[in-house]
Amino acid sequence: MNENHAEVCSSAEWAEHMRDTVLPRALGDATLGPQVLEIGPGYGPVTEIMSGILAPHGGTLTCVELDPELASALASRFPAVTVARADAARLPFADARFSAAVCCTMLHHVPTALHQDAILAEVRRVLRPGGVFTGSDSMDSDGRRAFHEGDVFNPVDPAGLATRLSAAGFADPVVAVHDGGDYFTFQTRRR
Ligand SMILES: C[S@@+](CC[C@H](N)C(=O)[O-])C[C@H]1O[C@@H](n2cnc3c(N)ncnc32)[C@H](O)[C@@H]1O
Repeated sequence: MNENHAEVCSSAEWAEHMRDTVLPRALGDATLGPQVLEIGPGYGPVTEIMSGILAPHGGTLTCVELDPELASALASRFPAVTVARADAARLPFADARFSAAVCCTMLHHVPTALHQDAILAEVRRVLRPGGVFTGSDSMDSDGRRAFHEGDVFNPVDPAGLATRLSAAGFADPVVAVHDGGDYFTFQTRRR
């Protein structure tokens, strides 16, 4: 990720935004169960929140991060979290290993729609039937394109996401756009 991300995505303001606004909208009243997978944790704002939700109930969090330096920093910061350095399109986990999966602010960093769809299919494979898949992502704008200069920016069109989730093997997808088109959240469950 470029320097803009290092500044914004590791900031206290971003962590607060994820904790107070984005994640509550994404999670709603979903039942996550005991084994949760996080895709693309980056600097760890969602990891921190999810750890706080799961720990009191004895739940476990596993993260998959492509960037080796971010994966290593995350493992040091969260010793109770299992961190795998991998492409989420090739998850190093058995079928039906997780009860839920969370993926925030990540899909627009995946360079092609084909690769994004491969990630959706992999998440479906490692979720048990009925397992919740939820998350959020940033939407397209001139400002966002400028923010991603020199970086991958391949925003997902929320209008097409429900169809893509259904094609990947998910049921009852719900996609909601927030803050005048700034970002969207989604929630679905494995068929
Ligand atoms: C903008 S950060 C999001 C961090 C955090 N989830 C948040 O909401 O603030 C996107 C993260 O996804 C990771 N990522 C991108 N492509 C990936 C892939 N194919 N598999 C796993 N992680 C990936 C990037 O390395 C980066 O750390």
